[in-house]
Amino acid sequence: MSHARLQNGERIHLVDAKGRHYAVTLKAGDLYQLSGHKIAHDALIDKADGSIVTLSGGKSMLAVRPTFGDYVVKMPRGAQVLYPKDLALIPMWADIYPGARVFEAGTGSGALTMALLRAVGPRGLVVTYEAREDFARTARLNIERYMGAVPNLVALRNNAYEGIQLLEDGVPFDRVVLDLPEPWQVVPHAARVLRSGGIYLSFVPTVPQVQQTVVALQHAAVFAMVETFETLLRTWSVQGRSVRPDHRMVAHSGFLTVARKVESGFWSRGTTPSGPEEDGSAEPAEENGKDET
Ligand SMILES: C[S@@+](CC[C@H](N)C(=O)[O-])C[C@H]1O[C@@H](n2cnc3c(N)ncnc32)[C@H](O)[C@@H]1O
Repeated sequence: MSHARLQNGERIHLVDAKGRHYAVTLKAGDLYQLSGHKIAHDALIDKADGSIVTLSGGKSMLAVRPTFGDYVVKMPRGAQVLYPKDLALIPMWADIYPGARVFEAGTGSGALTMALLRAVGPRGLVVTYEAREDFARTARLNIERYMGAVPNLVALRNNAYEGIQLLEDGVPFDRVVLDLPEPWQVVPHAARVLRSGGIYLSFVPTVPQVQQTVVALQHAAVFAMVETFETLLRTWSVQGRSVRPDHRMVAHSGFLTVARKVESGFWSRGTTPSGPEEDGSAEPAEENGKDET
């Protein structure tokens, strides 16, 4: 969306003085109401992104085009969406690059799909599987409302546990990115459809899921450089001389596990999925058989 002014038909956010967001899809002739305060959509259409607007009763709000993070938090959802902090990290740790060919499952509400589409750009491709028809439909609407038509998205109602099909051209995927309950069921399929040097990434909320995933990666024998981590985002309150962390935060979302598809057999040469066997400490390069020079 590149217009400087808010357009009829687009979804915008009205933001109040406390920073709360209210989503509105602009439709000429309609009236927006918020706790008895009203404003005609016509008074919002063609306003500059970031304008102050006044509702009946003198209530001032900001009219903005939502950022991608704002949008995913407020968009209609079937499945639980990923938080912006994870949506920001996944393209970096899965190394999603312009032009990449990415496999994703499950589509859910489409938040991660959009993050992937933004990262691969128009020359890239995202193939996404979703097991549920209703979620697939919600995702398609969410994606098209924010991004418009996306010819480089192939969205299929398939069960990723049963397998991953290459497209007709038979070209393997550069990246596999998973947000579904049992990624270990997809690991053998990922091993087959990823190109050598490709990257696997999965997101799961609990420790047993991480453990099963890493064991599956080990058994597949073609993955190395396996890392698991989580991130915490702590916001701060900055008011005059009172500068401190906010009292509340989202303390947990999930764990990311990342691995690299490589030539088979690397782990059987005295290496382990998470590093040196004895004490789990970082380095030493020699034990991993790596040459740092
Ligand atoms: C947590 S949601 C994904 C949310 C998504 N990443 C987003 O940001 O909107 C998990 C999704 O995986 C789907 N799913 C579960 N098992 C699946 C499978 N075997 N194949 C395809 N999709 C599956 C579920 O229906 C659900 O929509």
